[in-house]
Amino acid sequence: MQLRALRKEAIESLKDVGVEAAGVCVDWLLGDVLKMTRTEIIVHSTVEVTSAAEDIVRSGLVRRATGEPIQYIVGWTEFYGLRLEVDNRALIPRPETELLVDEVLRLTEGVPGCRVLDVGTGSGCIALAVKSQRPDGQIVACDISEDALALARTNSAQLDLPVTFLLADVEKGQSMAAVGYGFDVMVSNPPYIPTRELAALPKEIIQHEPVEALDAGLDPLRYYRALIDRASETVVNGGRLVAEVHSDYGSQVAVLARRKGLSDVRLSADLAGLPRMVVATVGHGRDLSRSSVDRES
Ligand SMILES: C[S@@+](CC[C@H](N)C(=O)[O-])C[C@H]1O[C@@H](n2cnc3c(N)ncnc32)[C@H](O)[C@@H]1O
Repeated sequence: MQLRALRKEAIESLKDVGVEAAGVCVDWLLGDVLKMTRTEIIVHSTVEVTSAAEDIVRSGLVRRATGEPIQYIVGWTEFYGLRLEVDNRALIPRPETELLVDEVLRLTEGVPGCRVLDVGTGSGCIALAVKSQRPDGQIVACDISEDALALARTNSAQLDLPVTFLLADVEKGQSMAAVGYGFDVMVSNPPYIPTRELAALPKEIIQHEPVEALDAGLDPLRYYRALIDRASETVVNGGRLVAEVHSDYGSQVAVLARRKGLSDVRLSADLAGLPRMVVATVGHGRDLSRSSVDRES
């Protein structure tokens, strides 16, 4: 079958069952199976697709039509310019989470050997993106899920970006002792969807992505309480906590951070203008760069 005909049929079949951005999904799938860029798919639209390749595309379309995310079907996604392996062991990294990476990079600019802790690392996306831009940084990442850590370690090895991945529960101070102390920045995209809101999520999320990566239980501030407590223990005086937030609860997270003694608390919006990230300083004392100089001397 000609590529052009297969592409047209595939897009129509996904549109028929209400899949959004059907063209993007189909081109991602075709590109992955045929090892072509999107431009090549358009330019070489008259090439013949082998029946073996057509079968793989068709089975991917069936999976997509039943709601499975395209990233799990092809097995990879892009985050901060890195190609990451993804599957249902961890959340699919979202573009808005790149804002956290930008912020961590801004905060660690000019900090030699910066130490960054990523809590709830999932696929390892934040930790690996930071390591890719701060090669001399010491990046530690933890998660409560052994499955997610296995995926993160695979990504670390494939990208040749050394990060220390550890099993730890942010809600248990003792468990977090293993990750160490003296971090310049603690960054986290924790689970933040209250259980009562889970049922309203699109089925491609709730039926395919790991619920423990999303579910904050009854209290939407649950993980922020733990993060703030752990930041006070593991981050240097003057270091920062950078956390992604649910847009409805961002200001409550900011109030909580101030109440628990963090300073310079800032709530930032994403490109759509929605509150998306809280940044706060741990303690009031020295600045970040000074803490690193102290460590080196
Ligand atoms: C929203 S996902 C974020 C994953 C990844 N950082 C990202 O941005 O795509 C939250 C992650 O926190 C982990 N997690 C849940 N509870 C945790 C806990 N008590 N301690 C540490 N990690 C936890 C989940 O396993 C999941 O990988």
